[in-house]
Amino acid sequence: MPAYAIIGGQWGDEGKGKIVDFLTADAQAVVRFSGGNNAGHTVMNDEGEFKFHLVPSGIVWPHPICIIGNGVVVDPVGLLAEIDGLQRHKIDVSRLVISDRAHVIMPYHIALDGLEEKARGKDALGTTGRGIGPAYMDKVARWGIRMGELKDVVGLRARLEALVAQKNAHIKLYDGEPFDASELYERCLAWSEQLGDYIQPTEALIEDMLARGDAILLEGAQGALLDLDHGTYPYVTSSSATVGGAITGSGVHPRHLKGIMGVFKAYTTRVGAGPMPSELDDEVGNTIRERAWEYGTTTGRPRRCGWFDAVAARYSASVNGFTSAVLTRLDVLDGLGPVKVCVAYKLDGEIITRFPSSASVLERCEPVLEEFEGWDNPTAGLQNMKDLPRQAKTYVRRLEDLIGCPISIISTGPKREETVLVHPVL
Ligand code: GDP
Ligand code: IMO
Ligand code: MG
Repeated sequence: MPAYAIIGGQWGDEGKGKIVDFLTADAQAVVRFSGGNNAGHTVMNDEGEFKFHLVPSGIVWPHPICIIGNGVVVDPVGLLAEIDGLQRHKIDVSRLVISDRAHVIMPYHIALDGLEEKARGKDALGTTGRGIGPAYMDKVARWGIRMGELKDVVGLRARLEALVAQKNAHIKLYDGEPFDASELYERCLAWSEQLGDYIQPTEALIEDMLARGDAILLEGAQGALLDLDHGTYPYVTSSSATVGGAITGSGVHPRHLKGIMGVFKAYTTRVGAGPMPSELDDEVGNTIRERAWEYGTTTGRPRRCGWFDAVAARYSASVNGFTSAVLTRLDVLDGLGPVKVCVAYKLDGEIITRFPSSASVLERCEPVLEEFEGWDNPTAGLQNMKDLPRQAKTYVRRLEDLIGCPISIISTGPKREETVLVHPVL
């Protein structure tokens, strides 16, 4: 009956894809529960490097069922391209299931994402431009089209007429190009043809698997600090990236959750706008970016880099109730010299250890840094805790204390085997 949530603990790109791939060895299903193709999850194995945007990262294994859950917003064009890429790698995609309750990202959502960002001017959020916000807006406003409707198109044509009129009025506000309902209907018919077989109700499927004792991984997208409620609003995404989203976005109820794993990088990165108190605007930040190739998996934008922010990490652990933490990219700090951790913030002359809810307050916070001796012996590729250099062990232990939960896995490289399993998690 167990389900395990794998949640980004920071601002995304923590290495969730690599960890989901590692854990899939012992799981029978993987469910993506939130976000859309704003996500970019990397898996590296003997076949090469795979970048997933919608398809769960477990698909590279031959055995698991991979589900795109009801909480996801699906761009059919992006998904079809992803399926095509997998087929070209001879990966069996017949194990892919798309919840009929997941919402469709329509072309007008993508257009509106761009137009709204432009309209925000200097306050632009730096979205991925994939139509995520406008698609979730329509879901909440009950204007959305669900994947199930692509399978059963009766009434969709008439509904599209009304929807497109409403969307075009919105687009006109920003002087954008209007959409044509008939043309969109034709596109829906094509998507129905191409994706129809993957679209199913997923509740019974998940329930049956849990009833027979299968282990299900709930694959998070983005990170806790990009969560619509708990993140650094308004510089967030439009879905629930935290554990609540794992429940509502998958249909797995909380009593099935046996583990909640928070994935953290050994330092911090962020793409897009918004406060980041431990950001390094100097040579060290540039060195981390270049040696770790910190460029967005989805948009290719440079990621902002900084020291590990323990104030944010502790907050993230508290809103998610992490049963354990996973530390990735420890190898990036090899040979970097002294390593620092932000252990508190200085706000208007006072030291605070609580993560503020206001983005403008967080913007004024300066990091209070604790310094650690660096290590020259590499951690890259290590598989055993005992082999870690003494200084790296001290760093890991301190992070464990600061996050407030045990570290169960340490990742020392992008490949599956470059992993230290500190204690079993499934
Ligand atoms: P996700 O969105 O959380 O799945 O993370 P991304 O895939 O966007 O970014 C993580 C990047 O780090 C990818 O390029 C991974 O291949 C890479 N990666 C993951 N774990 C490690 C690690 O322990 N060490 C190194 N050097 N790279 C890693
Ligand atoms: P994964 O799953 C990092 C960021 C964007 C932007 C903000 C809002 O790979 O960790 P959106 O397009 O969602 O409306 O953009 O959220 N963002 C991510 N940053 N990793 C991601 O996903 C992200 N998904 C969205 O850069 O700041
Ligand atoms: Mg990513």
